[in-house]
Amino acid sequence: MTRAAPRVAAIVPAAGRGARFGGGGPKALVPLRGRPLVEHTVAALGAATVVEVIIVAAPADALETVARAARTAAGGKVAAVVPGGADRQASVARGLAAVPPGPDVVLVHDGARPLVPVALIEAVAAAAAEDGAATAAVPVDETLKRGAGEWVDGTVDRAGLYRIQTPQGFGRALLERAHREAGASGFRATDDAALVERLGHPVRLVPGAAVNLKVTMPADLELAEALLRREEPPSVAPRVGIGFDAHRLAPGRRLVLGGVEIPSPRGLDGHSDADVVAHAVIDALLGAAGCGDIGRWFPPDDPAYAGADSMRLLGRVRSLLAERGWRAGHIDVIVMAEAPRLAPHAAAMRSAMAAALATDPDRISIKATTLEGMGAIGREEGIAAQAVASLEAAR
Ligand code: CTP
Ligand code: MG
Repeated sequence: MTRAAPRVAAIVPAAGRGARFGGGGPKALVPLRGRPLVEHTVAALGAATVVEVIIVAAPADALETVARAARTAAGGKVAAVVPGGADRQASVARGLAAVPPGPDVVLVHDGARPLVPVALIEAVAAAAAEDGAATAAVPVDETLKRGAGEWVDGTVDRAGLYRIQTPQGFGRALLERAHREAGASGFRATDDAALVERLGHPVRLVPGAAVNLKVTMPADLELAEALLRREEPPSVAPRVGIGFDAHRLAPGRRLVLGGVEIPSPRGLDGHSDADVVAHAVIDALLGAAGCGDIGRWFPPDDPAYAGADSMRLLGRVRSLLAERGWRAGHIDVIVMAEAPRLAPHAAAMRSAMAAALATDPDRISIKATTLEGMGAIGREEGIAAQAVASLEAAR
């Protein structure tokens, strides 16, 4: 059987100490979204169908841990995990020596670039197969200046300048010769293309990717975290609930809505403080959590709740949710009342309910409408409220 596709091995230098990153342990094992950094990198290489085998260079004192992460990420493709050398070039050389017979193209990709797109891996492999040497590269798009201490010492023309990324890809024999000759003459470089350039071999520029960042400083890890989060779908379907409550207006009662006492000749009649806004929100939250309704937790005939402050009930609902691993997400309420005008009190209601739920007032919306004189509420016999609420996982 003839195969058109090149046979490709990938070497992952991941043996650095991460001095600029700090933090003690090897940078390859720093957690990114709960998995070791190098596991992401090896998973990306493993996901490229063109990559046949992967060789990782790891810190000698973390060989086993890195090997476990690599096998978790790319299973059978991991051919060897070898101890790295004193610098990156030495680590690549050791990886190169461990490439099994077969592959005729070798990719080198930094362990510290976990977000490399599979398409970029494939593009570099194809260019290397075609032209013998290729590197991912991004044109410099910012103004470049030379500095001397704290001062600018001139502007550098950025035309034709590139930031060089990995993967870099080479014909296997060419890379082996480049490393051999650099080693023999004591030439050191921070990438493999430099060793091949030194032999006079042309290196092709393949458009790199902005997301293919190298985790060098702690801020780079935060950026990588944010980029990964963007790609992840929510882990569970959102939970939402709906709630409704209505009470009659009666003389001699206080009018309490959303935890706020509102000046009014009449108030809402009921067993508790008859706060229809709070009750609709409670029902929406309980509904979202699959916990039945307000009557199940606060029975209207229970003397414990006579005249109860509904903000206390809302606080109790917050605990019920927390016990089940939830907290309130967003809440939207419509109050149906002919009078009084409620808009001036909306901010206070949002604050009171946010305090009871230990959430942000910005996550609570309160709207009010009249019924234009229609029906019982239109005749000012009572006030009703409707609410929807979402939940999110409490952490
Ligand atoms: N690397 C390596 N062996 C070394 C040094 C570096 O395999 N002796 C690897 C790193 O693990 C990294 C890649 O080369 O995946 C790029 O190097 P860099 O980002 O500089 O990592 P470190 O050398 O670990 O970081 P620092 O220079 O801050 O110490
Ligand atoms: Mg380094």
